Formats: sequence, structure tokens, C-alpha cells
Amino acid sequence: MKIISTIDELRDQLRGQLRTAFVPTMGNLHEGHLSLMRLARRHGDPVVASIFVNRLQFGPNEDFDKYPRTFEADAEKLEKEGVYVLFAPTEKDLYPEPQEYRVQPPDDLGGTLEGEFRPAMFPGVCTVVTKLFSCVQPRVAVFGKKDYQQLMIIRNMARQFAMPTEVIGAETVRAADGLALSSRNGYLDAAERAEAPALYRTLQDVAERVRASHPGLPALEREAMAHLSARGWQPDYVSIRKRADLKPPTREEYAAGAGLLVLAAARLGATRLIDNLEIER
Ligand code: PAJ
Repeated sequence: MKIISTIDELRDQLRGQLRTAFVPTMGNLHEGHLSLMRLARRHGDPVVASIFVNRLQFGPNEDFDKYPRTFEADAEKLEKEGVYVLFAPTEKDLYPEPQEYRVQPPDDLGGTLEGEFRPAMFPGVCTVVTKLFSCVQPRVAVFGKKDYQQLMIIRNMARQFAMPTEVIGAETVRAADGLALSSRNGYLDAAERAEAPALYRTLQDVAERVRASHPGLPALEREAMAHLSARGWQPDYVSIRKRADLKPPTREEYAAGAGLLVLAAARLGATRLIDNLEIER
């Protein structure tokens, strides 16, 4: 595996490659990330991974500084997965001059859910992913459904800009107790880690009640948030949306019950966790 930090070197290394499969990450890699590498391998060759903690997508009071950086261990894991190039630029490598041009997602998709609570996030993600795509020029790129809204925003962005990159979604990898794997799980203390699976159980409970034709969507969302609050969480949202566009379903669409998912974000102590579940009916 070649570890490359500059854009010029990366271009040299990938020159002439037409089937590159790309997996962008912020490092601190776990099985969820590695499952993306395996899916990438099935869709293209060579597999290129990137590790870059992108300052643009963090708000001023968020965890950019303390975000876990474990480069040596990450590189070892990627090597074992047969990754051909690990692109790991410094901030100076990727942003040699201040990044003044930004990619702004539309408000209806980028300003809701995560975008409402983390306004810097999706413009920052779209900007860095556009730049990374431009450097790597992948035929396919793999993103996790764990960050469902991010996956949809990137997919729509690639389509609207006619980027020659197909965006593929990968299933969420979970711990045995249901907690979705996340670099931020490392912030949890032992008691919080024991409580954390309650987020996924709450989503499962909401999905179950939608399947059982629970009459009121707002009540369902409110009760799920109250349930988390009662257990000591501070929920930002529990929201039932349409998979196609992440808009709230109309009463009729909710009653029909097809193509829905439930998404949640909640703080446990100082750690903010997100998760989602597609509702099968
Ligand atoms: P990061 O949080 O490192 O995640 C990198 C990729 O791994 C994302 O596509 C994310 O959805 C996926 N992922 C994370 N946890 C997962 C899990 N448990 N199961 C499956 N996939 C999982 O997302 C980012 O980085 C950044 O925003 C990035 C796209 C790299 C832009 O900076």
C-alpha cells in the first residue's frame, strides 16, 4: 500500500486508472469503515482510501481538536484490506490556499435533521468530498448508511454536477448489542457505553409501532424523544422521514407505510450519537 500525502503524487500514482473505487474517511477506523473497503473492492480496482479530519465540517464548539487520530493503526488495517493507495493529506496539502469556493447543498436536504443542529457540517462535507473526488477521480465511491443524510446529499451532489462517480451505500455495521460502530463511541465512559444501545432499541421500537399502524406520527416521535430523555439522554430529534428525499411523509404516505425510515440524534453525556433504521413493512 502506498501512503501519499500530496495531490500531485496522488495524480501520478493513479494516472490512467479508470475503475478506481474510493472510500473517504476521517480515520480512527473500525469494522464499519473496513466493510466499506470490502464493498469498494467488489465495485472497482484499485481501492483508494483517504484519511483526512476535515476542519470545514466541524462547528466552532465541536470536537475537531479531540477527534481521535490513530494513523499508524489505521494504515495497518487498510493494508490488510488490500487498499492500493491511502491518501492522507495534511491541511496544507489539501488546502494549500484558503478554500474560498464552497459547495452548498440545497436547504431542504442539507438544512434539516443534522443540518439543523450542525449547520457547518454538510457544506463542509460537500466541499471536501468534491475536492477529494477531483483528486482521486473515482468511478465509484462508497459511503455508509450510518450517515444516511450524508450519503443522500453526496449522491444528489454527484448527480447534479454530473460527476463521473457512482455513489454506493453500505449497510450500517453494529456491535453485538446493536450500537452502530462510530469513532465517537470511544468518547463514552463504561456506564454510557452500557446505555448507548438504547438509541438503536428506540429506533427499533418506533419502526415496530409504525409497522403496527400506530395512528399518529408526531406522537410517536415525541414519545420516542421522551423515552430517551427519561433515560438521561438529550435528544436533538427522532424523526420519521421518506427514504427518497428525507422529507416528512404526508398523512397518506405515513399510512401507506412504504419507503420510510426513522433517524435520531441524541447526546449521552458529552457525546452526540446518531443512528437510523429503514422501516420494512
Ligand atoms: P467518517 O465518520 O470517518 O466515516 C467514513 C465513512 O464510514 C462514511 O461513509 C460513514 O457513513 C461510514 N461509516 C461510519 N460508521 C459506519 C458503520 N458503523 N457502518 C457502516 N459505515 C460506517 O463520514 C465521514 O467520515 C466524513 O464526513 C467524510 C465523508 C470522510 C468527509 O469528511
